[in-house]
Amino acid sequence: MEDKKLQINYRETNSLTDFDQSHQALIATTIAFAQNAYAPYSNFKVSAALILDNGEMLKGTNVENASYPVGICAERTLVSHAVSNYPTNKIQTIAIYVDKDLPNPVPPCGLCRQTLLEVEKRQNKSIKILLVAKNGTILEFEKCSDLLPLAFNGDFL
Ligand code: THU
Repeated sequence: MEDKKLQINYRETNSLTDFDQSHQALIATTIAFAQNAYAPYSNFKVSAALILDNGEMLKGTNVENASYPVGICAERTLVSHAVSNYPTNKIQTIAIYVDKDLPNPVPPCGLCRQTLLEVEKRQNKSIKILLVAKNGTILEFEKCSDLLPLAFNGDFL
């Protein structure tokens, strides 16, 4: 048996000035948009925003349902909107924010990672991910695939 190791690379900062103006605007927009989350059952408000290659910014939140499994995460609300309405545009960066006092930024769930990976693979260009915490900590991943090592994808089919 051979030991193998996978490494995930990412950056951490508490300083908004580490980002260019468009990314600072993206982060601010994502934070403000959490108020639109529809999360009456979990009270866990998540928002996401992205920048397209044409400079346009799109936003989304989690949308819950009284039938709990029907609810959808902010990331998938947003990505579905982008894929449906901007089929020829590429996504440059996605920022994700959770409106809760926690020690660390909240990473996307497994379903959302798989969804993000599909878009990244389709557009053949990496999508930067920013995980933004309420306390100001931001984690930056260069590409979605960094968040899902050993991933399943369409190449296997
Ligand atoms: N949620 C997201 O919006 N994104 C994630 O990546 C994790 C979870 C939402 C789903 C549900 O509305 C609430 O957070 C609690 O799980």
